[in-house]
Amino acid sequence: MSNKMWGGRFTSAPDAIMEEINASIGFDQRLYAQDIAGSKAHAAMLATQGIIAGDDAQKIQDGLDTILSEIEAGNFSFRRELEDIHMNVESRLAELIGASAGRLHTARSRNDQVATDFRLYMRDTIDALDAQLADLQLALAEKALAHAATVMPGFTHLQTAQPVTFGHHLMAYVEMMNRDRGRLKDARARLNECPLGSAALAGTSFPIDREATAAALGFARPTANSLDGVSDRDFVMETLSAASICAVHLSRFAEEVVIWTSPSFALVKLSDAFTTGSSIMPQKRNPDAAELVRAKAGRIIGALTGILVVMKGLPLAYAKDMQEDKEGAFDALSALSLVIAASAGMVRDLTPDADRMKAAAGQGYSTATDLADWLVRALNIPFREAHHITGRIVGLAADKGLALDHVPLADMKAVDARITDDVYSVLSVERSVDSRMSYGGTAPERVRAQAERWLKQLAGE
Ligand code: ARG
Repeated sequence: MSNKMWGGRFTSAPDAIMEEINASIGFDQRLYAQDIAGSKAHAAMLATQGIIAGDDAQKIQDGLDTILSEIEAGNFSFRRELEDIHMNVESRLAELIGASAGRLHTARSRNDQVATDFRLYMRDTIDALDAQLADLQLALAEKALAHAATVMPGFTHLQTAQPVTFGHHLMAYVEMMNRDRGRLKDARARLNECPLGSAALAGTSFPIDREATAAALGFARPTANSLDGVSDRDFVMETLSAASICAVHLSRFAEEVVIWTSPSFALVKLSDAFTTGSSIMPQKRNPDAAELVRAKAGRIIGALTGILVVMKGLPLAYAKDMQEDKEGAFDALSALSLVIAASAGMVRDLTPDADRMKAAAGQGYSTATDLADWLVRALNIPFREAHHITGRIVGLAADKGLALDHVPLADMKAVDARITDDVYSVLSVERSVDSRMSYGGTAPERVRAQAERWLKQLAGE
């Protein structure tokens, strides 16, 4: 039997493989709520414009409501021979209300329908991700406030560089998440235009009111060009690129959790809730959640690459290639949601080992810059020369196996006679972080102020 939705000029059914490659219902059924909302708005507009009768529109609306509850109750049977969510819904509508159902598709095509549904879906998903990211920021800022003065080693090249505070380190991610939220919001603002009414590609001869459907669906305005409306998927690319950047940020955090929890570092502990054991090595506590957060960036970036490659070189307007826009995006955005939730869970769960952090912060002559800065400040020595003098003192400390604050004054004076014992006032890790009072610096007072600012802002959102 030919397809009853479009098979007028067909005499026989598609090959089984044709049906298999063509069908998208397996994944686009996720769009059911958006599809029904779009159809309801369209039917209402058609009636208001006198394109269909008011009682037909009413039957359509009621039938669509019934379908929505059937799907939500799990009582709807999706059929592959009906290809996609759009035709599954419309076919069921015909079963429910008869001939009036056939009026719904007036002045519309699946091309503008799917573009509308997917934009609505992206908008909902971005809103959900934004709320999750705000929660992650909250978890980070709360933990940062509690550890505003907990000294830890700051690294460059993963070599001990200068002492920082754990709170300061966590607040760095609050800033990154803020930009991630901004990128998602930008994508949302740009995608919030309604393609419905673009029809197949050229618009329609019916006197439709695109402003009305756009407004009913919460869009800022209708898309201004029908060819563009049905054929661009930059909203998918843009959302996935924002998602990829966010996933990259979280993969860096996850990697830090992996490093910090490794027994060779042992700076941070995760509870049983966020670790797993080994089936052979009884002593192991593996940070699997962190490793998976780190890894899932792969599939999210993969989805971005996928849609970029699908769209590259496609002529206007719609082509079936575009059906490949959905699975990767659904998968990537679900993965991002999980990754954000797991990150927030780990942040709330982790406990820094303050003693080990402090000891590690003092290793590797991490206050050498403080010594050089003291030479500049107290003795008015140019920084480059101070750097050189400090280098010699560090060399001497290394020869003697001493920490910088344990090098005797006589030895320091032997390097430069102008040094006084006031120098010891800057060499501890606490003094080092306390002194970093520049805006954005790691001084506990600064970190506390930033954490409090964020907590207040997040509470007000
Ligand atoms: N399932 C299709 C998609 O996801 C809907 C649009 C189909 N349009 C068409 N002209 N075949 O892209």
